[in-house]
Amino acid sequence: MSTSSDATSSAATSPATPAPAPAPARREITTVDVPRGLSGVVVTETRIGDVRGREGFYHYRQYSAIELAERRGFEDVWRLMLDGALPADAAERAAFGAETVPLRRLPDALRPLLAPVARDTAADGPLAGLRALLPVAAALRGIRPLYDTDPAGRRADALYVSALAPTLIAALYRVGRGLDPVDPRDDLGYAANYLHMLTGREPAPEHARAIEQYLISTIDHGFNASTFTARVIASTGADLAACVSGALGALSGPLHGGAPSRALDTLDAIGTPERAEPWIRERVLRGERIMGFGHPVYRTEDPRSRMLRGVAERLGGGCADLAVQVERQVLDTLAELKPGRELFTNVEYYAGVVMDQCGVPRKMFTPTFGAARIVGWCANILEQAGDSKIIRPAARYAGPTPPQAVPALG
Ligand SMILES: CC(C)(COP(=O)(O)OP(=O)(O)OC[C@H]1O[C@@H](n2cnc3c(N)ncnc32)[C@H](O)[C@@H]1OP(=O)(O)O)[C@@H](O)C(=O)NCCC(=O)NCCS
Repeated sequence: MSTSSDATSSAATSPATPAPAPAPARREITTVDVPRGLSGVVVTETRIGDVRGREGFYHYRQYSAIELAERRGFEDVWRLMLDGALPADAAERAAFGAETVPLRRLPDALRPLLAPVARDTAADGPLAGLRALLPVAAALRGIRPLYDTDPAGRRADALYVSALAPTLIAALYRVGRGLDPVDPRDDLGYAANYLHMLTGREPAPEHARAIEQYLISTIDHGFNASTFTARVIASTGADLAACVSGALGALSGPLHGGAPSRALDTLDAIGTPERAEPWIRERVLRGERIMGFGHPVYRTEDPRSRMLRGVAERLGGGCADLAVQVERQVLDTLAELKPGRELFTNVEYYAGVVMDQCGVPRKMFTPTFGAARIVGWCANILEQAGDSKIIRPAARYAGPTPPQAVPALG
């Protein structure tokens, strides 16, 4: 193994032609056991954001995500995630908008694929369709591996995929119902345009703003399974669309994809506030979980839930009133039946209510979440692409003792 003293002696014998610098000693790879599911294991550093479960706080690049959702528009926060800074003035905001708006348009070559993809992925919905179409969109655009792309090219690819995804999701939804896709409108912001592409109507400003606040609040949320998946793929140098497709695969799992529609189904099943207490008690005593409550990280109220409760109340209506009353009943009953478990309302509960109030169909709840999360994945992918180390953990082999003789064919 080379050492620094070797290098000194070699330089001393031939001063005219300095010897190449010795390779640093490669660190011995030792294995360490970590908790199952990597729970609590710090695998890298990030400048993108963090979740503080005990405090009920999370942030994007140092700014409270909730404050961003209350004070800024989606594109501002998108720029923050991508470029590291909020637009400082109207000119910077307009410049970012001018970059993203043309990227929303559906490429003509993708149009004939919408119907077959929507049909064949009907059981799983538009996010599965998006997963099928992204590699095609990437090929049409000429997206190349992160490994072969400079930072400006990677940023352009991230903008493209993030801008096109809502168009594809909305088009897949509509085509799957025998409707024509609705082209994006350049004069509408991200959220209003999304609702327009979904419903074919220009949304009421209060609905566009409510969905915008929800979308901002879901852009990023720590090293969850899909974000980590995106980063693992990025660490191989694969192309950005492949990283996003992989993250979509992780998000499709029921343990991660969230359940805003299931939380709303719960409200439907309860129906009236008086029925809430016995309904919940019966299920919790049967060992079932109440959708929209509990969280793997938060040990206090989920800050997204608090904000979205406010949005739901602002929009008003019977569903919001019922949700607020049922929430109180669920929390009281869970505190009684599951004491000390620190169970609170999570993001899914009011997300479903708000999306319903704004006319987003239930089938589109998780895809709507996914569209916003792509912005966060892209920020993570770009950050990971700046690190040359491949993510490659180890597993402890637990099968029969090797090597066994390979048996001859009987
Ligand atoms: C999100 C979730 C998976 C987090 O789970 P977790 O932090 O790992 O919590 P645990 O599975 O360790 O549960 C701790 C205790 O609380 C109970 N609990 C957790 N969430 C509950 C819920 N929603 N309803 C009833 N009981 C619940 C568990 O049964 C367990 O009870 P026990 O100690 O008697 O076994 C879980 O709260 C859940 O299934 N929630 C419902 C689904 C949901 O809303 N998902 C969206 C999440 S954003």
